[in-house]
Amino acid sequence: MHAHPTASDPAPRPPPPGPAANSDAIRLQLRSWPEVDGYLQGCKGVIVPLGSTEQHGPTGAIGTDALTAEAVALEVGRRTGVLVTPAQAFGMAEHHLGFAGTISLQPSTLLAVMHDLVLSLARHGFERIFVINGHGGNIATSKAAFAQAYASASARGLAAAPRLRCRLANWFMAAPVMQKARELYGDREGQHATPSEIALTLHLEPSLISKQRPLEPPAPAGPIHGPEDFRLRYPDGRMGSDPFLAQPDHGAELLALAAAALSDDLLRFLADEEAG
Ligand code: NI
Repeated sequence: MHAHPTASDPAPRPPPPGPAANSDAIRLQLRSWPEVDGYLQGCKGVIVPLGSTEQHGPTGAIGTDALTAEAVALEVGRRTGVLVTPAQAFGMAEHHLGFAGTISLQPSTLLAVMHDLVLSLARHGFERIFVINGHGGNIATSKAAFAQAYASASARGLAAAPRLRCRLANWFMAAPVMQKARELYGDREGQHATPSEIALTLHLEPSLISKQRPLEPPAPAGPIHGPEDFRLRYPDGRMGSDPFLAQPDHGAELLALAAAALSDDLLRFLADEEAG
């Protein structure tokens, strides 16, 4: 009697596509649908950059979390050959709404957005959704969205449902990135509008360098509640950080460290070897 493959059999995992010549080659936005169909014959993985559009202190760019998540995602894509979707540039930033320019999704909205992204991708056969995140405020909601997406994929009977897995990779929490930030900035790294994330934006967008200036000592990092409370505790938007320490060459180094760490993490995820 023949053993027919079933959904519970571990599917053979083809190796990932391998390094791309440049980041255009791995941008989903630049692919046609037959190209995506063809890609799915060999690889079921996809990278989703997730950012936020929120204040980053008096000198940092509003787009910091989206710019950094997308840059790390494109570099991980280039190193591994795994497709990268357009960035989801709006995140859960309710506590930053006391500052002009911040645009926030409520947790329930972000949950619905991430859920729908995963379900769209799973419908076409993507089974490994690797979200590269640039904002701490997105973490709890993204994990809730993954749980909801698994339930929906199963309830809708999607073919990919039994094998669907999502992983949240926070580039700023990768061990080599945190170690380098400690080395460069010590306790002046702080917790929001950090010199490490600002350094990455200076590397990516040189026009931002002209905003850099010395700042008063920041309010110390502490708890996060609502937007009014946040502005009272952290009057200029920083939490214990000194972004004036940021340099573009630090940003280049942090980008390389983040991309190396997350590429390893992605390859383990695609091979079903990931921890946690
Ligand atoms: Ni940030």
